[in-house]
Amino acid sequence: MSVKSGKLVIVGAGKVGNAVLDSVLRLSIIDEIVVINRNRDKALGAVLDASHTTAFEYSTNTSIRVGDYPDCADAQIIVVTAGPSIVKGEYDRSILLKRNIEVMNGVMANITRYTREAILIIISNPLDILTYYFQKKYNYPVDRIFGTGTLLDTARFNKMLGDLCGVDAKNVTGFVLGEHGETSFIPWNTVNIVGVPFQEIGEKFKPSVPIDKEKLLNETKVIGPEIVQLKGYTSAGVSLAACRLIGAIVRNERCVVPVSTVLRGQYGIDDVAMSMPCIIGSDGISRVIELTLDEEGRRDLEVCHAHLRELLESVGA
Ligand code: LAC
Repeated sequence: MSVKSGKLVIVGAGKVGNAVLDSVLRLSIIDEIVVINRNRDKALGAVLDASHTTAFEYSTNTSIRVGDYPDCADAQIIVVTAGPSIVKGEYDRSILLKRNIEVMNGVMANITRYTREAILIIISNPLDILTYYFQKKYNYPVDRIFGTGTLLDTARFNKMLGDLCGVDAKNVTGFVLGEHGETSFIPWNTVNIVGVPFQEIGEKFKPSVPIDKEKLLNETKVIGPEIVQLKGYTSAGVSLAACRLIGAIVRNERCVVPVSTVLRGQYGIDDVAMSMPCIIGSDGISRVIELTLDEEGRRDLEVCHAHLRELLESVGA
C-alpha cells in the first residue's frame, strides 16, 4: 500500500499523545489522524474531544478517528508516545528503560507488520536508547526513525538565553546536543544570537544577569523533571517539538533541527543514537550535520557517548 501524504498515526493516548493531537490540528496540514491506544476508550475520548475543535475557525476539517495498527500501512508519519513517563521526584529518564523497551517492543512489532516506509517520531523515553535499540532490532530505515530528543532541550535553552538577553528565543541559534537527559551538552563555540558569538553576547545584549554557562546548561537539563514536579507531567513543549518535525516532513522543509538519530560515523561514532543537527524533509533525515566541536565539546560528546553505551549494554544492545 503506498504512503498517503498527510496521514498521521499517533500511538498512545496519554497526556503527550493528546497534546500532540491537539497541537498538530492547529498546523492545518494533516488530512487524516488515527489514534491507537491499548485502552480504546482513552483513544475514543481523545478523538472526540479533538474532533470538536475542528468546528472552530483555526482547525481544518481534518478526519480524526480511533484506529489500529493496520492503519499504519499507508501512514506518512507515526508518532510514538506509548509507555510511562517520569513522575514527580524522578529525574533520570533511564529508569523507564526496562519498562518502555517492553512497551516499545509490542509497538514496533505491530508497526513493522504493516510498514517500513512511515517516518517514525519517537517521544517515549529514554528515547535515545529506544531509537537506537529498535532501529537496530527491526533494521528500520535509519533516516526514517528518529526521536524528538534535544529539539525540546534546545527550545528550552533558546528560551532561557533569549529571556536573559531580552530577545525572541527564535533569534537564538544554539543547539543542545547528545542525550535527552543528564549528559546533554551545548557546543558553546556554535552558539550565537543573530551572528553575535556567545563570548560577545554579554557585551552586545547586556543580559539581565551575567550569563553562567554551567547554570544555563544545568537548568536546561533539569527543567523537564522540574515541570513534572510542578504539574505532574510535561506535554506542551514536547508536543510542539513533534509538531515542528511533522510540519518539516509534510512541507518537505529541509530545515536543520536537532533530533535523536543513530550516528553513522559522525565523530567516529556509530553505536548509539543521540541528538545531532539533521536536515529534515519529506523523506525524514537527508543529512546529519557534524558541527566542529572545540575541546570542551569533544569532551562532553565523549561523556555522552560512554553514558549511552553503558545504558545500551545494560539491555544487551
Ligand atoms: C521532557 C520529557 C518529554 O523533558 O522528557 O519534558
